[in-house]
Parts: sequence; C-alpha cells; structure tokens
Amino acid sequence: MSTLPHSIAPDRLPALLQAMPKAELHMHIEGSLEPELIFALAQRNGVALAYPSVEALRAAYAFTDLQSFLDIYYAGASVLLKEDDFHDMAWAYFERAKADNVVHAELFFDPQTHTERGVPFEVVIRGLTRACERARSELGISSALILCFLRHLSEEDALRTLEEALPWRDHFIGVGLDSSERGHPPEKFARVFARCRELGLRLVAHAGEEGPPAYIISALDVLHVERIDHGVRCVEDPALVQRLARQGTPLTVCPLSNIKLCVFQTMADHNLRTLLDAGLKVTINSDDPAYFGGYVNQNYLETFAALDLDAGHAYTLARNSLEASFVSGEQKAAWVAQLDETFARFAA
Ligand code: ADE
Ligand code: ZN
Repeated sequence: MSTLPHSIAPDRLPALLQAMPKAELHMHIEGSLEPELIFALAQRNGVALAYPSVEALRAAYAFTDLQSFLDIYYAGASVLLKEDDFHDMAWAYFERAKADNVVHAELFFDPQTHTERGVPFEVVIRGLTRACERARSELGISSALILCFLRHLSEEDALRTLEEALPWRDHFIGVGLDSSERGHPPEKFARVFARCRELGLRLVAHAGEEGPPAYIISALDVLHVERIDHGVRCVEDPALVQRLARQGTPLTVCPLSNIKLCVFQTMADHNLRTLLDAGLKVTINSDDPAYFGGYVNQNYLETFAALDLDAGHAYTLARNSLEASFVSGEQKAAWVAQLDETFARFAA
C-alpha cells in the first residue's frame, strides 16, 4: 500500500472503519433474525412465541454464557418455515451489510435446526440462495454459504445432514461446526469432516470460544480446518499461538459476541489486540448481530474505541478479512486494491 495508515487523522477513524471494504466471515444467518422479524414471521406462519412483545423478547437477551444464548437463538429460529422466510431473513442481513460496506459475506447456516422441525433442507437452501443471488445483482455483494453441523448432536446426525445436502453441493462452499462447545470436541466429528474434505468442501470450525486450546489443536489436526472461528482462548497455549502465527491460520473473532456471552467481562478486557500483536491473522465479525448489539461495523467501532486501535490496525483487519475469505486470488487482489483506494482517499 502506498498510503501509510498513520497519515490518517485519528478523528477520521470511525468514518474510515465505516467506509473501508471488508469481508464478513463469521455470521450465522439465523443470528441476524431481529426481534421485529421474528414477530412478523411468527404472525405470518401462525407460530406461537413464548414472549408477548418485541420488547419482552429483546429484554430476554441477557446472556450468561454460550448455552443461555443458544436456547433463545434456537427458539427464535422456530418461526422459519417457508422458503420466503429464509429469503427475507438473509435479505435483511444483506441490506445491513451493504450499509457497512461489506463486499463479501460467508454465511453460516444451521440446517439441523430446521430439518429437526420438519422443514426440508431444500426449503432452507433455496430461500438462502435466492437472497444471495439478489444480493449480488441488486447490492453488488458477493456471498457464499457454509453449512454448519450442530456439535451437540451426534456425528451420525451430521453425516445424515451431509447426505441430505449433497444434491445441493454447488449451493454451499464448505462446512463448519457450531453450537455448544464444551464437552463436544472437534474430534467427535472426525469422520464427517474427513468425508467433506474428500468432497473438496472448505472446512472451518468454532473452537476456543468457551472450549480449551486443545479444541483448536484438534480442529486443526483432526478436522484439518482452514480457519478457526473465535479461537480467542489460544492465548492460554503459547506454543499454539506461535503455530497459528507461523501457519497464518485466520481467526474469525467476534468481539461483541464475546462480551455478550461473558467470554470477556468488558471490551477493554478483550484480547484482540494481544492476538494482533502476536502476529495472528485476526478478522472482526458479528457472529449473531441481532442478539449481540451490533453488525460488523459496530464490532469494529467498539473494539477500536476500547482497545485504542489505529488506522494501521484497521488496514490489517480489513485486509485480513479479504485475504482469509474463500474467493479466488484475483478477486482478493481486486478488493485489496479497493481497500488501498479507500485509505488513499482518507489520507488525502
Ligand atoms: N451458533 C450461533 N452462534 C454461535 C456461537 N457464538 N458459538 C457457537 N455456536 C453458535
Ligand atoms: Zn459463531
């Protein structure tokens, strides 16, 4: 980059964070379901909710750990029944992403949350795909879907889900592993990930969010994942931090999520700056923005304010997000050129 980020005035940082092109690599599409949309879909589909109003539902978003969130998150997803519901949810996310200058989004979806309730896989994938295509044509946003297996369910269930998904193989680029981490180590899913690897799917997994560094190691060594989702607990194992830095393994960190789920007490306690200082390929993402108080730019803004990060960090984080994505080298270079242009404009 020809423009040095330190020549950008600190008071322009919030506008720069907003304007810079970025990729979002860790976003559960079911976690973008805002309370207003939950109520609208509940009414449209005749689904009864346990909360009397949008306000009452939002007031319940006081989480103590990952499981306390997941219980509400799966209840929220119960309003999704029809192809249009999945489309409308994803479209609402893309409109928000456009406002944050997201140029590319790799979206997680949890098919088992829906197929378990009798919603066919086909309904889920058709609705999401339609929103992705519309995002490309109407908003100029590139996107891809990553199918996540729920780790609190069995590997047999994951294998069945993969079989169900295979007729739609060209509609998703990879697989991930999410839901309750503690007690469900990556190695529980060794066979299904091995099969996905043979199929040429891209591989990621949540690890080291609430679970120990050993789960990050087994995600790498047993599942052969290419990115670690969260990964913040890697700092408890210095040899692992060195390995992640040496290998350039991207971490998709979600700061607001980590605060809301009490992984860190406050944003000032977050270790994102430590991870960057250790040379790790850190990215900033929103995880479940409807539940955690903000979309991707809010994550950037609050992290930068609390950890006193500067324009150099902004460049590194945005560039990491583009480079850690699963698009072609050519496409990455084109977006990095756009990023450089944005920085040049702000330095002028
Ligand atoms: N599913 C949705 N959000 C998640 C998170 N933060 N961790 C694990 N599973 C999830
Ligand atoms: Zn997540």
